[in-house]
Amino acid sequence: MILLGVNIDHCATLRQARYRQAAATRGGNIEPDPVELAFRCEKAGADGITVHLREDRRHIQDEDVLRLSESRTTRLNLEMACTPAMTDFALRLKPHSVCLVPESREEVTTEGGLDVVGNRDKVARVVDAMNAAGIKTSLFIDPDDAQIDLSARLGAPWVELHTGAYANAYHGAGRGTELARLMTGANRAHAAGLVVNAGHGINYVNIAEIRTLPHLHELNIGHSIISRALFTGIDEAVRTMKALMNPGA
Ligand code: PXP
Repeated sequence: MILLGVNIDHCATLRQARYRQAAATRGGNIEPDPVELAFRCEKAGADGITVHLREDRRHIQDEDVLRLSESRTTRLNLEMACTPAMTDFALRLKPHSVCLVPESREEVTTEGGLDVVGNRDKVARVVDAMNAAGIKTSLFIDPDDAQIDLSARLGAPWVELHTGAYANAYHGAGRGTELARLMTGANRAHAAGLVVNAGHGINYVNIAEIRTLPHLHELNIGHSIISRALFTGIDEAVRTMKALMNPGA
């Protein structure tokens, strides 16, 4: 059974589009509430909730994360940059897992994978701190040998393979190559003792191939589920994705 983590950032993006200046994150006219959405995702079968608390707080706010941490019935996965401030926040919050992602202010969403090789000491410090606190660290990396090998050597229990290049190549000539890279990466990560997650750009079409990646533990999916939910409601969007991930389950 492949598990589904639903990334609910876009619910907060919609709220912030209208209520960025408001003093509160909920109540009165302020909508939609990402914590209510998380609750509905969980009821529909999500195995976990993922949020990215970005440095610029463009969507998810600190208060959302604190409320989620108290109200969630599944697991909370906190995506964060590899900074001392976010490390302190995570150590106080104690989510089930953190996913370390690269972060630049200019990007619209997370673009490339985390360069573990180029930021070895920074990443090692966060992994050590999380391991000591009993919080699982997932490293969001491209399916490159050097990134995978170092992730294992630094003692991170999980990796999340970046599926964005594959998703972007899906309708072009590079699709087979990108899928093969992910397959090789998943096998290599598993052989190195890492739990293999994947995410970014996964949708209701490419899931048919993504689900064939070996050793998959969990997929983190946001954009396509929230987009579909505009038409079908979140309950159907989560149930259908879960069924496509695990046909016959
Ligand atoms: N995993 C990580 C690490 C991400 O940064 C994102 C995007 O925020 C996702 C998964 C979800 O990607 P998408 O919204 O394209 O499904």
